[in-house]
Amino acid sequence: MLTTPRPRARPARATYTFHDHAPQESSFEAAVVQGLSAPRKSIPFRFLYDAAGSALFEKICEQPEYYPTRTEMRILEREAPSIARLAGPRAQLVELGSGAGQKINLLLDALTDPAAYISVEISRAALLEAAARLADERPELDIHAVWADYSTPFALPLRADAGRVVGFFPGSSIGNFEPAQARNFLSLWARRLGPDADMIVGVDLIKPVEVLERAYDDAAGVTAAFSLNLLRRANRELHADFDLAGFRHEARYQAATGAVEIHLVSQCRQTVHVAGHDFAFAEGERLHIENSHKYDIEGFADLARQAGFQWHTAWTDPKRWFSVHYLRTPGAL
Ligand SMILES: C[S@@+](CC[C@H](N)C(=O)[O-])C[C@H]1O[C@@H](n2cnc3c(N)ncnc32)[C@H](O)[C@@H]1O
Repeated sequence: MLTTPRPRARPARATYTFHDHAPQESSFEAAVVQGLSAPRKSIPFRFLYDAAGSALFEKICEQPEYYPTRTEMRILEREAPSIARLAGPRAQLVELGSGAGQKINLLLDALTDPAAYISVEISRAALLEAAARLADERPELDIHAVWADYSTPFALPLRADAGRVVGFFPGSSIGNFEPAQARNFLSLWARRLGPDADMIVGVDLIKPVEVLERAYDDAAGVTAAFSLNLLRRANRELHADFDLAGFRHEARYQAATGAVEIHLVSQCRQTVHVAGHDFAFAEGERLHIENSHKYDIEGFADLARQAGFQWHTAWTDPKRWFSVHYLRTPGAL
């Protein structure tokens, strides 16, 4: 006998909770005008990450010269069982600057029954895409996508009924801050995560100059495209008229500061118009867009202690190119 197949019940679409703190819409113009008016021109690095910038960053991570991503992932993979033991059951993870959210899976796979994942990101496109994918992959997980600037105050949706709070700040993003700012940032998050909380921080280490400079100036030109995208963004969002061919990406390691400094260098004398202002560039004049500070293990451990964390351990790779630090806040802050 023929029966008409009954339509299968479709599984409910996996979801996440979106928290909208609209982090930067009004501030881009003010930051560009202020940064280009200074004697040493600069634009803050957080503006590198519009949708195109986030996609280009993912491509940077795949370049052979860009060792940080694969090295950090190998360390996390190897140490995931130790992290799971330290974090304990039903942990709630708070990732800062989560980007494409690749690395969190290494922790989620290893943790015992993780209760919640809170991802804080300034790039709306990257945040929503990663949250939707994770919700599909892990429908049982309580996922919160927080669109915010992680350096500013906003409500963190922590749960009272879950286990330990574990902050996660990979990708050596801490290196984008000057050391004093990095200490302030860590101390802000020590308070925000609360007493007896953990923090996992990926920190790039000092190494030969050639390796560092190649990592930030790959042969395929992806990092250069990432830097120049900042000017493209200003042209689109601020009706500026940067000539992208008039600027060259440059990455130089400064041993004195321990940072790879990234600039866009004006290739000729030129004037750029942004939001009703004129900005003159001399030939060879530099526009600073990002620093990436490198540490040694003890130096970063000291910084973390000064920020109010107890330093637990650091794991590294055989070449000692990258480190993952495990920190904990004191029991009562
Ligand atoms: C170097 S990428 C690292 C991405 C990812 N965590 C990883 O390890 O591959 C930095 C990330 O932080 C985000 N970000 C930069 N500044 C931010 C800010 N002020 N607040 C929140 N997220 C920020 C960027 O959009 C980007 O996704």
